[in-house]
Amino acid sequence: MKISQSFIEELKYRNKIDDVVSSYVDLKRAGSNKVGLCPFHSERTPSFTVFVNTETFKCFGCGAGGDVITFIMRAENLEYVSAVEFLAKRAGLEMPSDNEYKSELVKRSRIFDMNREAARFFNKMLYDPCAQEARSYLEKRKLSEAAVKRFGIGYAPKSFDSLRKHMHSLGYRDEELKEAFLCGKSTRTGNYFDYFRGRLIFPIIDNFGNVIAFGGRATDDETKPKYLNTSDTPVFKKSRNLFALNFARSACEEYLILCEGYMDVIAINIAGFPNAVATLGTALTSDQARIMAKYTKKVVISYDNDEAGQAAAKRAVPILSEAGLEVSVLKMKDAKDPDEYIKKFGAAKFRELINGSRGKFDFLFDTVIKKHNMDDPDGKVKAAKEICEIIAGIYSSVERSVYIAKAAQRLSVDEKSLKGDVDRIRRRLGRTENERQMQKIVSDAYGYSDRVNREAVGNTRAARAEENIIGLMLLRPELADKIKKGEYELCADDFKTSFGRKVFEAVEACEGKPDIGIIGADFTVDEMSRISDMQRRRADLAKNDETVLADSIRTLKEEKNSEGSGDELADALKIIQTKKNRQ
Ligand code: UTP
Ligand code: MN
Repeated sequence: MKISQSFIEELKYRNKIDDVVSSYVDLKRAGSNKVGLCPFHSERTPSFTVFVNTETFKCFGCGAGGDVITFIMRAENLEYVSAVEFLAKRAGLEMPSDNEYKSELVKRSRIFDMNREAARFFNKMLYDPCAQEARSYLEKRKLSEAAVKRFGIGYAPKSFDSLRKHMHSLGYRDEELKEAFLCGKSTRTGNYFDYFRGRLIFPIIDNFGNVIAFGGRATDDETKPKYLNTSDTPVFKKSRNLFALNFARSACEEYLILCEGYMDVIAINIAGFPNAVATLGTALTSDQARIMAKYTKKVVISYDNDEAGQAAAKRAVPILSEAGLEVSVLKMKDAKDPDEYIKKFGAAKFRELINGSRGKFDFLFDTVIKKHNMDDPDGKVKAAKEICEIIAGIYSSVERSVYIAKAAQRLSVDEKSLKGDVDRIRRRLGRTENERQMQKIVSDAYGYSDRVNREAVGNTRAARAEENIIGLMLLRPELADKIKKGEYELCADDFKTSFGRKVFEAVEACEGKPDIGIIGADFTVDEMSRISDMQRRRADLAKNDETVLADSIRTLKEEKNSEGSGDELADALKIIQTKKNRQ
């Protein structure tokens, strides 16, 4: 969906960024810029900066950045189109009536209608004789009628057209059903078919009560895939929604329980905890973390007990912390997931588990200790080293000493010598001004340094060249023009990281002057921060001419033709090593 470029220009002209931001942040003048306390993370000294000249913002603390539209997306938790609408209202601008926007709105409300009807149909079918198998499966999983009612669980019959027939009778066409992901179309025969067949259906509902998507579980444990889910549609982005948030958001003043699966959330709910949510079949995103942070202060990660679940928990910890959330991680014994745990041991034991959940550093200690053989002196030394690195990254000295004492006890080594090691690491990395860098090194070591462009870790040189090229295109439209005209023999295929490629394609597709406000529809707010950085970083440099562009293109092509190591951790460790050598 694209709103016309001229409308966006007008919109941004009438919504000056410092003006808009000042209703959220107390801004003080600082030279030609304005600064204030960041509304997106908690801080005591202002690192949130509004660049009046370029109409952009950047928080040097949490990294959020972008233009006025991205700001509203973050501040009001809105999708791009809704943020544009928000700003249009603010400036008294009428949303253009004849463009795709209106039809987009109509389309959205029609998809909501279709989904609601489909949910009703699925629920009704659960009581049909054809759902015998599904009902006995529910029974086997101990999903009561109360759970079915609360979550609106349904059944999609084993047929290629039962939902379609029903929807046709209500006046919906196959093409629309396909857009809502309720049916698919065979590329071979061109025939439409019901997407969910022979599956239990879990509707996914937003905070306004709209059915935005479905998860469909097989009614046995053999069928693959176990779940089919609605893909992204005009009303649903799986990276920006959470299952059961519609229930949890009003019951999570204290904390939210974050699970991996639908079944876990349902079991936990039935056990008397309405404050559980789950991601939707993907790893946790920073958008989801931010959404949680709007409703609660603390998240208890309650992932599966297997290796995959624990690894996912480890990745989730920094994402949640960065959103300003306190994090703890459940330690489950003798059950593979919360669902099984509750069935085996009951709700009271589960509550005990929550009360006894580990803080994030205890959890990180555990993962380090698990990794090494603690009976072997070498293993113990390695574990101690890693733990010292983690502790050295903690800002507060009180916290550091608490964890040093704890670590000394757990490793049964002398507290003083641990403290000596931690201090040495801190000295080596420079003191306070390097706090952030330290954090970054620790997270590099754990392989989650760049969540916006994951491929950047193993491809630093290529990623930097890509960012330079895109930054230059945004900063100097005439260079973008030349690229578009083919004067540089640069095309999307030359990009090495898929993120770089996607941004390049979007910038190239801008009709007139490329602007981040125009490409915003296709990116998350975190991605927008990065794109805005590319432009700002170039703007900070003195030299931005064609030789820089040509150099970057050459570098990119060289890198594209060479093979990266592909081993993210090895690359991250290399980065640490070079940083250490430079000290
Ligand atoms: P799980 O396999 O843990 O599923 O996957 P579950 O919800 O606990 O279900 P049961 O207890 O095995 O019946 C966790 C989540 O990952 C997504 C779903 O969102 C699921 O809830 N998933 C899993 C898929 O999207 N597709 C799959 O094939 C499997
Ligand atoms: Mn599970």
